[in-house]
Amino acid sequence: MRAVRITRFGGPDVLTVAETPPPRTSDGEVLVRVVASALNPVDDKTREGAIGEGTPPLPTTLGWELAGIVVDSRDDALPVGERVFGMSHQLGTGRGTWADLVAMPAGSLAVAPSAVSLVEAATLPLPGLTALQTLDWLDVRAGERLLVAGAAGAVGGLAVQLARARGARVDALVSRPAQVEVATELGAERVTTDPADLPAGAYDAVFDTFGAFAVEAVADGGRYASVATQAGPVPDLSRRSVRTTVNQVREDGPGLAELAKAVDAGQVRTRVEAQYGLQDVGAAHEHFRRGRLSGKIALVL
Ligand SMILES: NC(=O)c1ccc[n+]([C@@H]2O[C@H](COP(=O)([O-])OP(=O)(O)OC[C@H]3O[C@@H](n4cnc5c(N)ncnc54)[C@H](OP(=O)(O)O)[C@@H]3O)[C@@H](O)[C@H]2O)c1
Repeated sequence: MRAVRITRFGGPDVLTVAETPPPRTSDGEVLVRVVASALNPVDDKTREGAIGEGTPPLPTTLGWELAGIVVDSRDDALPVGERVFGMSHQLGTGRGTWADLVAMPAGSLAVAPSAVSLVEAATLPLPGLTALQTLDWLDVRAGERLLVAGAAGAVGGLAVQLARARGARVDALVSRPAQVEVATELGAERVTTDPADLPAGAYDAVFDTFGAFAVEAVADGGRYASVATQAGPVPDLSRRSVRTTVNQVREDGPGLAELAKAVDAGQVRTRVEAQYGLQDVGAAHEHFRRGRLSGKIALVL
């Protein structure tokens, strides 16, 4: 089968589509024929060798997300022929998803949303679980005010939509004027490109996707979560009784099922900027590196 492998770190030219043996399926695992995957910032950093602690040994197969069809299973909830989607913690497990076949723990998969294609579904697992798990940590409730920093990005855009579905009032910080409309369409009320515009102490919770550290905006007694691991820790706000965290995404089948439900209920929409075939994975990475994206870059197998 084909798999996107790297044997050294570097630019997109280090990506190779190699022939590898199909995976063996162990107890509790489901074998998925991958239809699509997508790129995330972590793939770019992994390829570059810019992860720091936790850099995977080489060679490795890249990719964190997949959507596809079950081809071998002893799990009644995920039978052969089922459309599924899933997130594989590539850095933690070495199990990359940019391959024709992937053996995944059944608990890290869920039935894919029926309202969207498998290509669209493949763009959801990593940013969607990051958004969902971080909103759960923030314990965002109906009527509360949430600020999402980086609201037009993959994680931020899903966080805006999922928080709105929970009844929260969501404001947004974005990087450039073109993103103001994007964040508004996703459900944000007040959207700004200027951190100095943020009202002081106004937010019950802040969801920070890029290291904005807009700590003045959170109310005393509030919650502040960052997912921008590489930006470092959130400043200590314990004197203001603000709880802080840098959240790390986990494999989470029930979370994926919740995401699928939100997509099928029309509460969450997918955004795909471009699609590339697996053999054009280098061009997909070049596109990703140019930045200023308005949706995810999908890889179609
Ligand atoms: N901790 C975890 O488990 C976890 C999980 C998933 C992702 N992450 C990390 O979370 C971050 C976001 O991921 P993503 O997939 O959402 O990436 P993304 O789609 O590239 O989104 C990042 C967003 O932040 C915006 N942004 C960057 N700098 C900004 C600034 N100074 N002011 C305002 N907006 C700014 C970007 O705008 P532009 O398009 O203009 O640059 C973009 O809209 C990445 O660093 C990723 O590695 C962490």
